[in-house]
Amino acid sequence: MSRSINLAVIPGDGIGQEVVAQGLKVLNAVLPQDVKLETKEYDLGAQRWHRTGETLPDAELEALKGHDAILLGAIGDPSVPSGVLERGLLLKLRFAFDHFINLRPSKLFPNTATPLAGRPDIDFVVVREGTEGPYTGNGGSLRTGTPAEVATEVSVNTAYGVERVVRDAFERANARPRKKLTLVHKNNVLVYAGHMWKNIFDKVATEYPEVTTDYLHVDAATIFFVTQPERFDVIVTDNLFGDILTDLAAAVTGGIGLAASGNINPTDTFPSMFEPVHGSAPDIAGQGKADPTATVLSVALLLRHLGYEAEAVRIEDAVSADLAERDGATSRTTDQIGDALAVRVAD
Ligand code: NAI
Ligand code: MG
Repeated sequence: MSRSINLAVIPGDGIGQEVVAQGLKVLNAVLPQDVKLETKEYDLGAQRWHRTGETLPDAELEALKGHDAILLGAIGDPSVPSGVLERGLLLKLRFAFDHFINLRPSKLFPNTATPLAGRPDIDFVVVREGTEGPYTGNGGSLRTGTPAEVATEVSVNTAYGVERVVRDAFERANARPRKKLTLVHKNNVLVYAGHMWKNIFDKVATEYPEVTTDYLHVDAATIFFVTQPERFDVIVTDNLFGDILTDLAAAVTGGIGLAASGNINPTDTFPSMFEPVHGSAPDIAGQGKADPTATVLSVALLLRHLGYEAEAVRIEDAVSADLAERDGATSRTTDQIGDALAVRVAD
């Protein structure tokens, strides 16, 4: 039987265009002959918004549904008012496609810079809830712009939403050698949501006797990310805590040029979306300076999600080998790094 991948590509803005080209190069190189890759590019982002005023028209949202997965570069530019593209495009996609798992692996590869002394062994993955918490737009403001302004931004937590992300995290922990899962929340202060998370976590834990569990308040977790990152294997947490923690995780594991992510709908009702954690980097856009590695690692997550485990591992091994041979003195262009990785995965 012939296999195929029908991929939607959203290069987006700034370096998004440059790094996605390298991601596709490596994807083409790693796929076996019998896998037919079809790609369709979508013109979405800041440029489109400036031209037409549109963020994500319904027709394109519908068309995106027909793909097996989405590869996204980066969306945004300082010339677009804050929130327009985040709410109108990125969050809209996450909610419409029910991307309730935001997956962010953090690994300290050999020969990469970390601000942490002593190069601890870092290899953990954050499973961040993607559709609830304070990110649902459940809020408003009264007497806006006056000294008496009132603003609310309600954190939404449903038992359904919490249980499905907690279950996914237990599955991921159970599949890893260390089988350890840490719940991060703030249940000493955020008692209603926090206790629900903890109760559901404890209930699901009884079904996974081989998984060691742990709980940390989010403030304590930030300390351990820096002082003892090796203690973590899989972390499950809510949308806001996960957003902040994963930026810190990226900072201690070689920086934003290496951090990959997946917005995943494990039920496969809608396509999942894979993207580097970084943005459009207007300061270096168009200069061939962007590191495409985060995008290439996002392609590995994409392949793993679609069942191409061997190919995902080949990409990760290629990245590891490429990083091991990098020296700080010679800098390569975006294109050269992409070429080097494509050669390695094709071997
Ligand atoms: P950014 O991630 O674009 O850049 C932060 C710093 O990291 C810059 O100095 C940049 O040059 C550097 N950097 C980022 N990616 C790099 C790479 N692959 N290789 C080498 N250096 C890299 O974050 P910033 O500047 O806050 O945001 C710029 C724009 O991107 C904004 O419009 C923002 O809204 C948008 N953005 C979009 C995201 C997305 O599409 N998911 C995520 C974050 C920001
Ligand atoms: Mg963020």
